[in-house]
Amino acid sequence: MAESTGPEDRVFGDLLRRETQKGTLRFMTCGSVDDGKSTLLGRLLFEADALHSDQLAALHSDSGRFGTAGTDLDYSLLLDGLEAEREQKITIDVAYRTFATSRRKFVVADTPGHEQYTRNMATAASTADLAVLLVDAERGLLPQTRRHAYIAALLGIRVFVLAVNKMDRVDYAQSVFDRITADFKALAARLKVDEVRSVPVSALNGDNITRASDWTGWYSGPSLLEVLETISAERGAEGPLRLPVQRVVRPDQSFRGYAGTIAQGAVRPGDAVVVQPSGQATTVARIVTFDGDLGAARQGQAVTLALQDETDVSRGDVIAAAADPLEQADQFAVHVVWLDKAPLYPGRAYQVKIGHRTLTGQITELKHRIDVNTFDKHAARHLDCNDIAYGTLSLDRAIAFEPYATCPTLGGFILIDRFSKATVGCGMIEFALWRASTVPWQDLEITKAARATLTGQKPLVLWFTGLSGAGKSTVADAVATRLHGRGRHCYLLDGDNLRHGLNRDLGFRPEDRVENIRRVGEVAKLFVDAGLIVLVSLISPFRNERAMVREMMGTDEFVEIFVDAPLEVCEQRDPKGLYARARAGEIGNFTGIDSPYEPPETPELVLNTVDTTADALADRVLAYYDRELG
Ligand code: ADX
Repeated sequence: MAESTGPEDRVFGDLLRRETQKGTLRFMTCGSVDDGKSTLLGRLLFEADALHSDQLAALHSDSGRFGTAGTDLDYSLLLDGLEAEREQKITIDVAYRTFATSRRKFVVADTPGHEQYTRNMATAASTADLAVLLVDAERGLLPQTRRHAYIAALLGIRVFVLAVNKMDRVDYAQSVFDRITADFKALAARLKVDEVRSVPVSALNGDNITRASDWTGWYSGPSLLEVLETISAERGAEGPLRLPVQRVVRPDQSFRGYAGTIAQGAVRPGDAVVVQPSGQATTVARIVTFDGDLGAARQGQAVTLALQDETDVSRGDVIAAAADPLEQADQFAVHVVWLDKAPLYPGRAYQVKIGHRTLTGQITELKHRIDVNTFDKHAARHLDCNDIAYGTLSLDRAIAFEPYATCPTLGGFILIDRFSKATVGCGMIEFALWRASTVPWQDLEITKAARATLTGQKPLVLWFTGLSGAGKSTVADAVATRLHGRGRHCYLLDGDNLRHGLNRDLGFRPEDRVENIRRVGEVAKLFVDAGLIVLVSLISPFRNERAMVREMMGTDEFVEIFVDAPLEVCEQRDPKGLYARARAGEIGNFTGIDSPYEPPETPELVLNTVDTTADALADRVLAYYDRELG
């Protein structure tokens, strides 16, 4: 089905485009903003293009090759292909330029250097085989240079070309070049980089860009272009078949195929395969492409597989070699790069896009944040923009996956804000944690329905949210008293009271509140399961977590009640004297003062406590209950 494919959620989308045409080198440029990236790229393209414009033309016609097929069947494939193309083109701010020399074709990912740079840089790194890292000879390795090297390495780049630029500004001094090269090699060693080549250049003067400079007699190595022409940097393509299904193709009743780009391995008609996660086994009947059936296809090729047996396959499933299926899990050790201005809080739910599948998930635990300059590990309770961390990713369902290092398509993920649909982070799976496969869900004999029959009521949650002093607990208590009087079984979970026990370890920072709401949601869910009417009185200031609790419950089991009173009124009431203390600076992170409250957008009920009494409001809740739920 059509999933959200906004322009932002494609940090890894371009992986699909990585057709590893033989001989083509995909590289990216990175470095600190003023290190001369555009001058270098401009000079490189200019000098290379000027020499070989005929090949450039050939390359252009080559890459616009979609849609040359002729049979009936191919028509639908063609449309699908174009649609996929269009989808891919709405990428983030990364321009892919192609150019060619007599020795090689190149695709360079060019990322503009504005404030979203890290995000674009991550996108580019996910599609490149090699990174050209620019360093200003006068300034040496800067924090941003290190960050980019770190992210590029995390995203699987194993070959770096260090372009030590602006050599003219340091009188072409070998000592400067040697020192920067040594600094970078020390960094590269820690990043598990396989190969580093270093070239002294001046993009401005054209030294060692495409030809040897007269000013660097001490340097006998190749020019930057020669390095790019000769270096071997293809990422490994070995391993068993993995085809993440991007689209189910059904032009008519007679044909059903599964289209995608082979992420790893190779396939032939007759191969035994398994569809994951369902586990159905079958064999490959045909490999269909725009240019007719193939006898074999390998990593990087976009194909449509027809399977021998009637099989239930949907977008996001993986067709894998039967002899060597993928591991399945729902919890992972991961690296995360955080790209959003609003922080990441552990426990907050995001959409997680992995392969072609979109699920709900959370970073449940942050083990540490990584200082990219020193490699020090710091404790972190949340992540800010550009932070890189190691932690745990938890998904709402088990998926078939590969570690990112083995297969970027099946081990790379992006995190998408559930409301704005913006990409807010990206990450890499390192390995699965033990939980998924070893802790099954136990089905118990006595069910929620059975308990509800016994109590003779519909179990549900009445969730009261609002500022401190708005009157949540007073109204909730009045509702509970009335329900109890009518012989209903109910329980009031009060935020203040819970903070004396279950939640006594939590404070009032946003990350504490996220966890507070999550825990209370889980307890409420258990009590609903037990057959109770649960009343919750909790500031619960975040829309995101309230929505998450709603999703945890069944249909009609979550009633959001906004207890609405303006901040001025709550502050005037100040029943616990806390607003006064917050204003005096004695209490920090106080809701409404220096910590946000996000009012519900579509609550089931809004109770205005300014001009209506708690008793009258309780009656309204009861009336709602009788009408809608009783
Ligand atoms: S929540 O934001 O995490 O949902 P919760 O409802 O549990 O908050 O607790 C709020 C209660 O804690 C308030 O009613 C108030 O009595 C007390 N409190 C103490 N410090 C704060 C603070 N900084 N912000 C809000 N409430 C506070």
